[in-house]
Amino acid sequence: MANHVYIKKKISPYNKTIQVSSDKSLSIRTVLLATQAVGITKISNLLESEDVLNTLKTIKKLGIKFKKIKNFYHIHGFGLNGFTPKNNTVINAGNSGTLGRLILSLLIKTDKKIKLIGDKSLSRRDFYRVIKPLRLFGANIKSKKNSLPITIEGTEFIRPINYLENIGSAQIKTACCFAALNSPGTTFIRARKSRNHTELLFKYLNIPIKIKSNKIFDLIEVKGLQQFNAFNYSIPGDISSSSFFIVLTLLSENSKIKILNVNINESRIGIIKILKMMNAKVSFTNKRIYKGEKTADIFVKSSKSLKPINCPASLNSSAIDEFLLIFLIAATKTNGISTFKNLEELNKKESPRLDLAIKFLRMIGIKVERNKNNIKIYGKSKLDLNGNYNIKNFLKDHRIFMMSCIAALTLGGSWKIHDKDSINTSFPKYLDILKNLGAEIN
Ligand code: S3P
Repeated sequence: MANHVYIKKKISPYNKTIQVSSDKSLSIRTVLLATQAVGITKISNLLESEDVLNTLKTIKKLGIKFKKIKNFYHIHGFGLNGFTPKNNTVINAGNSGTLGRLILSLLIKTDKKIKLIGDKSLSRRDFYRVIKPLRLFGANIKSKKNSLPITIEGTEFIRPINYLENIGSAQIKTACCFAALNSPGTTFIRARKSRNHTELLFKYLNIPIKIKSNKIFDLIEVKGLQQFNAFNYSIPGDISSSSFFIVLTLLSENSKIKILNVNINESRIGIIKILKMMNAKVSFTNKRIYKGEKTADIFVKSSKSLKPINCPASLNSSAIDEFLLIFLIAATKTNGISTFKNLEELNKKESPRLDLAIKFLRMIGIKVERNKNNIKIYGKSKLDLNGNYNIKNFLKDHRIFMMSCIAALTLGGSWKIHDKDSINTSFPKYLDILKNLGAEIN
């Protein structure tokens, strides 16, 4: 079957309420934590995308039983280090950096040899970021180039660590917290701020965790070897998936959208803060707290033109997966120069997203200047495209495919966008929701 879509028409005005897929970070974390809990965890509204399905396949290979009953995944945990894999088990994290990095951290004490592999994109990504702290815990890790394939053979001689996480990566921080679960004594992590779902889940599960925060860092203490009980969790909507519709609405004319029950954790809403600084009409209603996580409905209205932004680098981590969309807004909805700094982490995602975003913006006629990992975008609002655009060779990155659809539906021109299947990684229902809003996509 064809793996591309054609978009040749802008989307017509709409006024709709939608629900996006469930949060990917919370889906992967709750499944992995369920494997270390005692008893049957029940997770509803689990995201059923490839990254999460690969998480389920992985825990199955490690000896964890689960079944789906109606909307609930029932996962049978045997407590800490409760995996029972066969020797030389091969686990495949597919495209998921989060799964790949986090599963290693739960295997530091396994008594069998486990090999971790992934797809082409994951195989070119850096794993030294987690290999380094996990070796300090005592784990036995072998990897030729600090990337996949990796073999891990646990050891009995695990010790807690004192670690500085200075990138602002939630994956590294979480790997340290997860490894701390199976370590005796207290692990200390000084972590540059990043999404804090793991810490909130630990608190909710009564895992002994203490956090002291300043503006830039969190000092996290986790006391290890404390069993915790199975739990119930209902996963809210994903702000990263919502962002495509937020930006679609801002770029469209006379449209409104309400997105129901989205996780709006402070450490995830960088895009909302940035859009508000640009004067966008985005608001939260029906705010609630669910097991420590904030949720709300998000309301967005089309905006005329927006202000360019000098984006504070302190927001980078909380908007890390949304920069492609933020650049699109800066490029096509503002008149003036927007600046973004210290974006080195963007090139370490499923594709080198900083390089590819610049290539994309230049392709649609936007001037972009780059100095190392800082960029200036020269905004051109009222950009009206009428050429042919072929989005190919963007390394099958799901977020590049989805952002390209938003550009195609709002800027004009005739688009052929390749690698449709990439959406299965994070948001399989993406095109169906766009079509329900009236988008013509073939
Ligand atoms: C994630 C953390 C982020 C993000 C990724 C999901 C997580 O990566 O880009 O999509 O669930 O912890 P880093 O922590 O490496 O920045």
